[in-house]
Parts: sequence; structure tokens; C-alpha cells
Amino acid sequence: MTQDIFDLPGPEGNSLVGNLADFGRNPLEFMTECVQKYGDITPLRLGLAPACVLANPEYIQYVLKDRELFVKSRGLKALKTLLGEGLLSSEGDSWFRQRRLTQPIFHQKRIAGYGEVMVAYTERMLESWKDGETRDIHADMMRLTLNIVMKTIFNSDITEGEAKDVAHALDVAMDWFESKRKQGFLILEWFPRPENIRYRNAIQQLDKNIYNIINQRRVSGEDPGDLLSMLMQAQDEEDGSKMTDKQLRDEAATLILAGHETTANTLAWTWMLLSQYPEARTKLQEELREVLGNRVPTMADLPRLRYTDMVIKEAMRLYPAVATMARQTIKDCEIGGYQVPAGCAIIMSQWVMHRHPRYFEDAEEFKPERWAGDLEKQLPRGVYFPFGDGPRICIGKGFALMEAVLLLATISQKFELNLVPEHPIVPQPSITLRPEHGIKVTLKNL
Ligand code: HEM
Repeated sequence: MTQDIFDLPGPEGNSLVGNLADFGRNPLEFMTECVQKYGDITPLRLGLAPACVLANPEYIQYVLKDRELFVKSRGLKALKTLLGEGLLSSEGDSWFRQRRLTQPIFHQKRIAGYGEVMVAYTERMLESWKDGETRDIHADMMRLTLNIVMKTIFNSDITEGEAKDVAHALDVAMDWFESKRKQGFLILEWFPRPENIRYRNAIQQLDKNIYNIINQRRVSGEDPGDLLSMLMQAQDEEDGSKMTDKQLRDEAATLILAGHETTANTLAWTWMLLSQYPEARTKLQEELREVLGNRVPTMADLPRLRYTDMVIKEAMRLYPAVATMARQTIKDCEIGGYQVPAGCAIIMSQWVMHRHPRYFEDAEEFKPERWAGDLEKQLPRGVYFPFGDGPRICIGKGFALMEAVLLLATISQKFELNLVPEHPIVPQPSITLRPEHGIKVTLKNL
């Protein structure tokens, strides 16, 4: 007889909302404590919904591999109001078709050309940076990665006003999700509360911008070789159909959101860590001098920027931009020999696994060197998964790694960034792991 997960020990919750309040208050701390106390699988109740936290890589791997038994959770489904049937939030046949159409667009050879855009935009940003000034580096990284993603998706040099519109729409949306997450997604989006109205207005604004670009492209018929034109040309192998305007809008909105926020957060956390660990920063600067001298990095340099790559890997270990992923069981099933009911939320946390002392020595320390001996391949799958895994693994992984390394190298060649000591840095675990009050640094020109 298999054991029911709810017969396993777990944290006591409130009789009404279960563990929702503790989870909502500080999910990362709460999950870490659960795993320390209860091990590989912890049963929870979030409001009325059964849930569990997995901390065994085999179980995590098992769940991520099976996209039919384990579908996206309620939280991500709520994203549909913003991203529609885009890759991140769709399921089943609709997801499969879009993934098949989109996958070739992210092939390493096709995205290689974007390396130049990434470096050029970074250099343009650096022109306005001055020795000794204080900046919010998180805000800077958000702006830079947004500009890069808009250029690579839409071939559009967005104006200050347009960038503000898009950034504002996404900010409002993220705030909305943060407030919904705290309430356990219990309050519906159509209820005419002020935050819901603000949210719907933000979506309308975003839609207006995206549809405008799609319309212009349809009318002019031009093909600037950006992601939008690749999406417009992508043709289903089976029925020859192409994406409708609504599908294009949903994919574009998905790529704008998924394609800039995560990379910006990764870089913001990297700057924090490099300032906290100056020895690692010195090693990074030495590698850049040796490999690049005074010239800017290109795609061809990436294989030789080994330490730079390790810095990014290690920053994504300690501060994974996606810190928690969840799925939901569509029917009764078993995980690791335990019975799990239909409708159970399965929570898997990169934050918890990436800091698990069973897999990482000095797990809380920033040590890029740990990746030197091909650690990634030696770790069991399901331990280190900043980009997820299985069929729904991040489609932008190659794009993101290339961007993170190129931006880190280009900026580190010219500036050293030191944390402003009294500024509070608080990881905010919403859809992505953002620094709640930004990250303030002082610039030193090198
Ligand atoms: C450091 C940067 C990034 C991180 C840490 C990251 C992380 C992730 C993770 C963990 C998932 C899986 C979510 C799940 O299975 O529930 C995902 C999916 C996705 N990501 Fe990323 N991502 C990054 C950058 C990007 C970029 C640059 C793009 C596009 C340009 C992108 C587009 C997507 C899309 C479209 C999906 C959905 C894929 C699908 O379900 O088929 N991401 N990402």
C-alpha cells in the first residue's frame, strides 16, 4: 500500500486557511524551513487547496518531465489575463503547436546575431554613466534588457515615452500579481477594485503598443529579421497555418515579459554579489583584461569567458530569477511512491534546491569556482534548474545566458559597482525574484 502524502508530517496550519498565511508572508523562508524539518516531501494546505513542497531531485525531475499529468498551477494560469495563450501560460495542444513553431527561432545560430545589439545597447547606456555617481542598478538593468528585447523582437528603438509605457504596464501587472499571490489568488481579476482597474488599463496600453507594431508590419510587409517577423513567417508543418494577430500579440507580450525581467534580475543580483565578494570581482576583471584587452566582447569570445560564465551560473544558483515553480496534478497519482490527490499544487523551489547543503558545499557562499569542474553535469538533474526542465524548459535559455555574459563583461570592463552600505536589499519572491527596494550602487570608473 502506498502512503498518502497527507499522512506525512508537515507544518501545522490555521484551521481556516491552512498554511497560506505563513507561505504568503515569506515563501522562501517557509519552504526552506519545511525542507529542513520534513525532508523530501512536505504536505501543505494553501487555503482550501492541497499542496506539497518537493525537495528530492528525482521527484522534481519526474514532475517537470510530465506536462500532461502536471499542468501549470493556479498562479501561472492567472498570468493568462496578461499573456493569453502565449508559450508561458498555455497548455496542451495549443502550447505544443506554439512551441514547435517558436523553437527554431531560438536556435543558437539564429540568435547569435543579437549579440551585437546587446553589446551596442550596453555601450550606449554606459555613455551616460559617471564616475562616483549613485544608481539603482536594478532599474538600469530592467531598462537595458527591455530595450534589448524590444529591439530583438520588434526591431524597434523604442522612445523614452514608449519604453515608459511598456515598463509601466509590466510594473502594474507585476504589482497586481504580487497582491494576488499574497491573497492566494482568491480575489478575481474582474472584480472592480481599483487595483484590478489599474491592471486592466495597463493591459490595454500594452496591447495598443503591440497591435500597432503588428499592424504596421502587416501593412509595410517589411522583414527586418527580428523575432516578430520570424514568428509571422513561422508555418505549421502539418497544416501550413501561420499565427493569428492574437497569437502574435500573446507571444510578443510573453517574450517581452519573460525575456527582460528575469535577465535584469539575474544581473542585478550579480552586481550585489560581486560587490560583496571583491576577490571574485578581481578575478573577473583579470579574465576580461586577458581575453578582451580593451575591445568589447563579441559572441566569438564567449567560449573563452569561462570565469564570467561561472559568475553568472553561481549568481543564478544563489538568486535564481525564477525562485519557485509550481504545477497542479490533473488526477490522483503517485510521486516517489506517495499518493497525491487530483488538484494538488506541487511546489518546487530553485531557491531551496540551489542552497541545499546535501548538494552544495558552503551552500550559502558565492563561489564561482565551484562550477569549474563541470559541476553542472555531475549534479543529479532536479538540483540546479534556473531555467526549469523537461518539455517546458525556458525557450530563451541560450538568449539569456548570452545576454547575461555579454552585458556583465561589457559593463565590468569599464566600471566597478560598489553597494551603498545603508540601502536595504530585500529579495521579493513574486513571479520573479526582484530586489524589493532596488539595489543602490556607487560607480567607479576603471
Ligand atoms: C536569466 C534569465 C531567465 C530565466 C532564469 C528564465 C527562467 C525560466 C523558467 C524557470 C521557465 C520555466 C517555467 C515553468 O516551467 O513553469 C521559463 C520559461 C520560459 N521562458 Fe525563460 N528565463 C529567462 C530568460 C528568458 C528569455 C530571455 C526569454 C525570451 C527571450 C524567455 C522566455 C521564456 C518562455 C517563452 C518560457 C515558456 C516556455 C514554455 O513553457 O514552452 N526566458 N523561463
